[in-house]
Amino acid sequence: MSAQYQVSGDSAASISASIESGVLRGDWVSGAALPPVRVLAGALHVSPATVARAYQELRQRGVVETEGRRGTRIRSRPPIAGSRSALRLPVPDGVLDLSDGEPDVRLLPPLGPALRAVAATSGPPQGYASAVAMPELIEAARPRLAADGVPVADAAITATSGTLDAIERLLTAHLRPGDAVAVEDPGWANLLDLLAALGLRPVPVTVDDEGPDPASVAAALRSGVRAVVITVRAQNPIGAAVTAERAARLREILGRHPDVLLVEEDHAAELAGVPLHCLGAVTDAWAFVRSASKPFGPDLRIAVVAGDETTVARVVGRMRCGAGWVSTVLQRLLLRLWQDAEVTALVAAAAGDYARRRLDLRDALAARGLAAAGTTGINVWVGVPDETRTTGLLRDAGYAVAPGSLFRIAAPPGIRITVSRLGHGDIPALADAVATAASPAGVATPSR
Ligand SMILES: Cc1ncc(COP(=O)(O)O)c(C=O)c1O
Repeated sequence: MSAQYQVSGDSAASISASIESGVLRGDWVSGAALPPVRVLAGALHVSPATVARAYQELRQRGVVETEGRRGTRIRSRPPIAGSRSALRLPVPDGVLDLSDGEPDVRLLPPLGPALRAVAATSGPPQGYASAVAMPELIEAARPRLAADGVPVADAAITATSGTLDAIERLLTAHLRPGDAVAVEDPGWANLLDLLAALGLRPVPVTVDDEGPDPASVAAALRSGVRAVVITVRAQNPIGAAVTAERAARLREILGRHPDVLLVEEDHAAELAGVPLHCLGAVTDAWAFVRSASKPFGPDLRIAVVAGDETTVARVVGRMRCGAGWVSTVLQRLLLRLWQDAEVTALVAAAAGDYARRRLDLRDALAARGLAAAGTTGINVWVGVPDETRTTGLLRDAGYAVAPGSLFRIAAPPGIRITVSRLGHGDIPALADAVATAASPAGVATPSR
């Protein structure tokens, strides 16, 4: 053991395991620099090649990243049990938490009636023979997706335990560690974490209110990405939604790369409040993932996945080797929720409620000279010159917001404000606080 570095081991595997234990204990926090290879090798009396291999293993598992002169550092949110929650700063009493990207739990439909209906109609307990996506769920999903323009006529459909479960299975079935994946920048932090954990390389694509920038997608494809992942509506964090025109341009570009896996994900789904413009079957391998999390509740842990036959068969096959299938209890529950007119009305009302709060906040920020993005979904993104300072000042003013660094690769800094816990009455004071915290001198801009 090197007391100085709190690392032990005499092989690449034991050194990397020791560093992972240190991350779990909190000895190594995100951003902490690991010692240079030669220095640690000297302290542990092993060869530099052994330490270099240990660092490479950690890199492939998404625990560390290496950035030229900055050396090797612990990634933010490394994929080690327990490390993730430790990285979220606790929100003190009296501070309004607008940082977590969670839906407003007050707007989620109550599950009681649907659960009772499932209990009353599900028949005898199911065994391993139920290891499938239920035909009733698939047949109900098909017209719902078709109504939104997803090309399901010849598509296969299955269910997974949420969006990330689907994306993980899709990526591992098509790609190998080291392969590159085009992702929106800024984009979904959990997706970036997943890519790191799978040893895949994110290639940033710029994104505006209308979706991924076509020239940037074309450049990523030219650079050899093997997959492209797009959040079609309620993009996290900037709230973009792919427009009809943008979808047409992207189809044209992606159509020239039939070997690339295209994953579109629609987590806002029935909550999005804007039409879907699906790119669909433009490459040979494609998948459209619709989560139930935002409209019906993240705890349902279910998404439906439509795609070409081979791609969906790979997802089902991978699932069979692991978790097996999504419980039919959950599948029946989602089906009930889809079929319940009261639930449909509640979800539509929730979509309107989010939209009003998001737009009111954007208007209030605009009146204070701040341009904010957020065309759909539950978040508003504000570009700021210094996100660490802005988040710190906002915390002092009583608001916890998410620093853009969680979502960015090369995009300029910003903050993400989730509107779920924001009351209409809170908006003017929040907008004042953001204007003050975002201005270089920390001085309020008079409202107009
Ligand atoms: C961009 C994006 N996609 C998908 C999801 C939902 O993922 P899941 O279906 O795994 O709950 C979220 C949740 O915050 C999200 O922000």
